[in-house]
Amino acid sequence: MKTPITVTVTGAAGQIAYSLLFRIASGSMLGPDQPINLRLLEIPPAMNALEGVVMELRDAAFPLLNEIVPTSDPDEAFAGANWCLLVGSVPRKAGMERKDLLDINGKVFIGQGQAIARSAAKDVRVLVVGNPCNTNALIAMHNASGVPSDRFFAMTRLDENRAKSQLAEKAGVHVTEVTNVAIWGNHSSTQYPDFTNAKIGGKPVTEVIKDTEWLKGDFITTVQQRGAAIIKARGASSAASAASAAVDTVRSLATQTPEGDWYSVAVCSDGSYGIEKGLICSFPIRTTKDGGWEIVQGLPIDVFSQEKIDVTVNELKEERDAVTSLLQH
Ligand code: NAD
Ligand code: LMR
Repeated sequence: MKTPITVTVTGAAGQIAYSLLFRIASGSMLGPDQPINLRLLEIPPAMNALEGVVMELRDAAFPLLNEIVPTSDPDEAFAGANWCLLVGSVPRKAGMERKDLLDINGKVFIGQGQAIARSAAKDVRVLVVGNPCNTNALIAMHNASGVPSDRFFAMTRLDENRAKSQLAEKAGVHVTEVTNVAIWGNHSSTQYPDFTNAKIGGKPVTEVIKDTEWLKGDFITTVQQRGAAIIKARGASSAASAASAAVDTVRSLATQTPEGDWYSVAVCSDGSYGIEKGLICSFPIRTTKDGGWEIVQGLPIDVFSQEKIDVTVNELKEERDAVTSLLQH
């Protein structure tokens, strides 16, 4: 029997968590033989609802679920955490951009970053899902003194999955045929889903999909605007697909990436591709044999891609500049 891994999920009574917790407990995220301790953080008004979720988790009788700790105390929630999935924060409503949430959500990540630094395990890794996730991750990272910056991630895997699904549909192939899709930049309407380096059935996308106008136009805007389209249709933001993307992200970070492929997640830039050091920016990422991660180097960036990357990186700088008072140095 393996030693349990402790996973902390914030916003545990919310929509995303209602799907995510059951996927984690079933073994989808960390493997079918990996026991899990779940530590669940909520704000006091949501503790009753959280009790209901805990009852359902128990009622599911998951063989891998070792322990469940529901709490509204961040230090108790992050105690010994190996993985922290920071979902808890307010979602946007129709007509808003994700960055409009910075005023409401940004400050949450100060206290959570500090509590992670005090209480989590030495090997802690933190995935921020709550929006605007890149800049919230930046705030958490700056406030988690002593935790290395390479442990902080923000989720752009949902965007990658959306892009793959759009490309597969257009090419008339199964989504598993689509590989090497990188999302660059911010999880926002400026993100750049890079089709120029993507492949379908091992061939460049541009050899399989000849409709360049669609690739440069509708494909990009559909992916950029997919979150808003779901809010319009559902009256609430994406939840099950977001939970699934969080599971995919952790699984990709925890397992060696297949040869030649990559996945998307926002990490602290080291200056690769000329992107300012210290921004939490989405890149093509590979998980290495030793369990670390690296930014895929040397991808060709044409003029069209560079312009798109510049726009989204500039937005990240603007968001960073808007929260300087929340960043501790
Ligand atoms: P939700 O409103 O259903 O749930 C959020 C939960 O967080 C609520 O239960 C709330 O009580 C809790 N919460 C608020 N502040 C908290 C705090 N300080 N500590 C702990 N819990 C707290 O929202 P949701 O649909 O689950 O979405 C959560 C967030 O995820 C939103 O910001 C949403 O925009 C974002 N999101 C991101 C992506 C992505 O791809 N990165 C995808 C979908 C949604
Ligand atoms: C998404 O991409 O679905 C989420 O970030 C929710 C949103 O506000 O769009």
